[in-house]
Amino acid sequence: MKWKHKDLLGLKDLTAEEITFVLDQAKSFKEVLQRPIKQVPALRGKTIVNLFYEPSTRTRTSFDTAAKMLGAGTNNLSIANSSVKKGETLIDTVKNLEVMGIAGIVIRHGNAGAPHLVAQNVDIPVINAGDGFNEHPTQGLLDIYTMQEKKGDLKGKQVVIVGDIAHSRVARSNAWGLLKLGAEVTFVAPPTLIPKDVETIGVKTSYDLDAVIGKADIINILRMQLERQQGDVFTPSKREYNKLYGLTAERMRRAKKDVIVLHPGPMNRGVEIDTEVADGPHNVILEQVMNGVAVRMAIIFILLTKGQKKKK
Ligand code: CP
Repeated sequence: MKWKHKDLLGLKDLTAEEITFVLDQAKSFKEVLQRPIKQVPALRGKTIVNLFYEPSTRTRTSFDTAAKMLGAGTNNLSIANSSVKKGETLIDTVKNLEVMGIAGIVIRHGNAGAPHLVAQNVDIPVINAGDGFNEHPTQGLLDIYTMQEKKGDLKGKQVVIVGDIAHSRVARSNAWGLLKLGAEVTFVAPPTLIPKDVETIGVKTSYDLDAVIGKADIINILRMQLERQQGDVFTPSKREYNKLYGLTAERMRRAKKDVIVLHPGPMNRGVEIDTEVADGPHNVILEQVMNGVAVRMAIIFILLTKGQKKKK
């Protein structure tokens, strides 16, 4: 397949064939990660910069590990100690990185569209590691990879995504990718946490987890994004939220015997998911994290070796 993108900005932009191409490449890299020597020299001599304007444990470490497994060097720029603090703009920052010979930029930013702005202003590949409420495409890809590994072809599979849909870039990337692969997606949340027009993209919605949990082949539980809710009260209390929307052991008794439970992390145990479920037999949460390295190896490798140049 001829890869036609310079950047990975969102799963909205990829076709089903392109998503499958990335996931097939990730499968090969997962085999590499199971070898005693986990590194391949594919990107020796290249350097990737991780530019994270928001906190991260999994995504930043996973991109850093993925680049190193491909033989590339990495530079995790500390925003707190960078010239951003002296007022340097995002565009000036990335143009300076580019002329140093950096081969690719991974960026997480609180503003939706920030990675798109960067991509327009540099010739090197840009990977969106999460932008505001918009997309988190590599999280979407690693979730889909894990779902396929456990459930096979996702065509017709019922995926129930529960939580703070309104503030979730993971929900959006999951929905774009899953719908393209033929899965049926249902968003479940209190009315205050589901955007009114979300069904226009092809998902179903429900305010009642108990009414839909029994049909789910896959449940993806999202974190309550307290840092994005800007002081607004979207639910009466965390306790009330747990009672109505939390994935509790009691609620799981109504789910299919072979349902799998995903969570992108970080988890708020006792709020959106109880510990018995987070650590229970249906969870594939740490497998998601493990698969994330292979998926990020795949996307870095594809963009740096097959990516299209920016149109002048
Ligand atoms: N899933 C995810 O994006 O986790 P981090 O915020 O730790 O990167």
